[in-house]
Amino acid sequence: MATSRGEFSSRLGFILAAAGSAVGLGNIWGFPTQTASNGGAAFVLVYLVLAFCLAYPAFMAELLIGRFGQANAVTSLQKMSHSLLQKRFAFLVGFGGIICAALILSFYGIIAGWMMSYAVEPVTKLVGLTDASQWVISQGLVRNLLFTALFMFLTIFIIRRGVEQGIEKWSKRLMPLMIALLAILIIYVMTLDGASAGLQAYLNPDLSRVFKPDLLVSALGQAFFSLSLGTSVMIIYGSYISKKENLVSLGAQVTLIDVSIAFLAGLLIIPAMYVAQAQGVAIYADDGSLIAGPSMVFAVLPTLFEGMGAIGLFVGFAFFILMSVAALTSSISMLEGPVSYAVERHNMQREKATTVIGILIFVISVVIILNLDFMLDLVAMVATEYGQPIIAMLCCIFVGWIWHRNSVLDELKHGNEAVEHTIFWKIWPWYTKFICPLAIATVFIHSL
Ligand code: PFF
Repeated sequence: MATSRGEFSSRLGFILAAAGSAVGLGNIWGFPTQTASNGGAAFVLVYLVLAFCLAYPAFMAELLIGRFGQANAVTSLQKMSHSLLQKRFAFLVGFGGIICAALILSFYGIIAGWMMSYAVEPVTKLVGLTDASQWVISQGLVRNLLFTALFMFLTIFIIRRGVEQGIEKWSKRLMPLMIALLAILIIYVMTLDGASAGLQAYLNPDLSRVFKPDLLVSALGQAFFSLSLGTSVMIIYGSYISKKENLVSLGAQVTLIDVSIAFLAGLLIIPAMYVAQAQGVAIYADDGSLIAGPSMVFAVLPTLFEGMGAIGLFVGFAFFILMSVAALTSSISMLEGPVSYAVERHNMQREKATTVIGILIFVISVVIILNLDFMLDLVAMVATEYGQPIIAMLCCIFVGWIWHRNSVLDELKHGNEAVEHTIFWKIWPWYTKFICPLAIATVFIHSL
């Protein structure tokens, strides 16, 4: 039997849960990495503009679909459809988003597992388990399977408990922890030699790069990944928001938190790289660019922590716990998409649906782990470079072209009576109808 639907019990609950989904490895790892390889502050500037001008409108479209439908992504989109053809299209878009979320979780869980293993390393070192500490940070089949399983277990554990007792309660616990860890680490890194050079590199834009197509594509892709768009996740989170809430301001607050935390993460990672340089660690690759990607997180930064002596153990531990917590608040949202679908459309019991779907996704992770060299990048590319932009674009098309303008307005008016007279209503419908689909399509075609 399907259980009754959950709802976020408070405005703060929703903000923390949605920000928890948005803020993840994409912010704390992806954003600083992209900044490092795209000309520093020029990227930050473009990212800020695109996040508010393109990602926020698309984000609003998804939240609105969910709040209107009060159901999983497929059902919500079908409620907006008028003909059989549109209903089929709705199924395709909604289910596509759910598959996309599942695929993202299958590779995200592996990377989050690595973060957890690196968090365990300082602990094993502290208690003198030298061999174990070497094992947890070495690439290996058993290590990868074990830590991915552990991470998936935590994700399943939270989602089994439902919206209020699972997602909301844990987001309220984990998000403040994450923000506190981030703040402490930034303050500490700022006191070290080399940090100011990093700060300069981060905050001085090389304006000649601002309009480079590659930079625009990377920034938009990053903004879409960061707001978890095109995955059904924001539709389902939107469906748990009370009709009393003002969606326009809630959406803006979540976007603001997401962007701010990405910015803060850059304030930690880029200066930390320069601190590492001041301590003699090589931070530039052979082609002269700042080291980015996995080497930055799993080689340069750990070398920096090691060079700090005993305190480095605590700093390293805090850093990788920060990463793991950020990943967990995102992964729970990815699992909620498919689970809500199974519960509402197939009358599955929530606990059972969560465990079964969680295990199925873990099986995909195992296949990826067994073929790590080519499958990790492949699945990530299919889901984030193809799946997310296409689904996000189709959601905008749904809101702009299929849903009646009056119904859109009626939905927006819940919790925001005066919305009709705001600048939001003057710009956003037009934006969602024309600009967002066009911009996403342009970026997508360019990335091909
Ligand atoms: N927004 C998350 C991040 O920045 O790491 C990633 C993400 C979460 C993508 C949820 C997709 C998703 F459905």
